[in-house]
Amino acid sequence: MGKDGHLLEMRNLRTSFFTHVGEVKAVDGVSLYIDRGETLGVVGESGSGKSVTMLSAMGLLPETGRVIGGEILFSERSLARLREREMETVRGNEIGMIFQDPMTSLNPVFTIGNQITETLIKHKRVTKAEANRKAVEILASVMIPSPEKRISQYPHEFSGGMRQRVMIAMAICCDPCLLIADEPTTALDVTIQAQILELMKELSRGRETSVILITHDLGVVAGMCDRVNVMYAGQIAESGAVRDIFHRPRHPYTLGLLKSVPNPNRIQKERLAPIKGHPPDLLKPPKGCAFAARCEYAMKICLASRPPSFEIGDGHNAACFLNHPDAPRVSM
Ligand SMILES: Nc1ncnc2c1ncn2[C@@H]1O[C@H](COP(=O)(O)OP(=O)(O)OP(=O)(O)O)[C@@H](O)[C@H]1O
Ligand SMILES: [Mg+2]
Repeated sequence: MGKDGHLLEMRNLRTSFFTHVGEVKAVDGVSLYIDRGETLGVVGESGSGKSVTMLSAMGLLPETGRVIGGEILFSERSLARLREREMETVRGNEIGMIFQDPMTSLNPVFTIGNQITETLIKHKRVTKAEANRKAVEILASVMIPSPEKRISQYPHEFSGGMRQRVMIAMAICCDPCLLIADEPTTALDVTIQAQILELMKELSRGRETSVILITHDLGVVAGMCDRVNVMYAGQIAESGAVRDIFHRPRHPYTLGLLKSVPNPNRIQKERLAPIKGHPPDLLKPPKGCAFAARCEYAMKICLASRPPSFEIGDGHNAACFLNHPDAPRVSM
């Protein structure tokens, strides 16, 4: 656990890509945490830094990417200070990850069984026979029919939904205490999506696994998560319990996201309104609030300085000057 008893905690994490055109500040001061047994949602538009934040924690950044500041604490250890060998043990064994791109974790030239048993033998020091038995058991637990036959098939022999189940199986086969799922259902049709999410819910309940769920879909967050972090331009715009974020958003960006999705629980009074404009160029992030250029409430100070995270109450925080005690009262 982190110093405050959190399972995983990031403090002021900064990750940049050093490219031929300059430094891309992909993660720019992210602080977040997850506790044991919790499901945390991470939402935000494309390019807001969701994947890079998690890849930083897992030590899986591509070559041009580097963590340049901050701390990542997992079970009282600073992940950034671990050697690659130790980090390999954490990955797979303690933190499982379902990647946004399925082919990142599945090797097309090995059978599914081979890939799962290899992980088990490496991390759990079990015999080949035991690993085989466990692999069948795990495939069954993610509802893959005839797992004893499927185990000798290759990734291309599985449908998209089944492949996603295999990825979940691989991510949980060593019983990690944290599962990071990066857009685990985006590519799937709605029915399969619901089945996979239900499966993940059961896993997190049954095994008391903490889950970080990265998604574009606020509906998924409402159905699955305890808390949410809203990301924008490599920063956390707002964080809090799901009910606070959905019913009492205190950052105009969160409000914009909520207005841009249909809400099945409410007859939509207003038309759906996508947020106008584009996120800033992370090669040259603005001096003030990253959202100011698109914000209908922007004040002078928003252009001049970056808003700190204001505590609104009970775990609810928003990085927006409207929450300053002297700010004008606006109804969002
Ligand atoms: N290899 C790379 N080189 C340079 N910039 C990168 C690289 N990978 C990511 N970035 C930049 O980092 C920022 C954050 O990217 P990231 O993939 O974390 O976004 P995301 O929130 O996961 O988006 P999506 O919802 O599309 O998956 C983006 O501006 C992206 O262009
Ligand atoms: Mg991503």
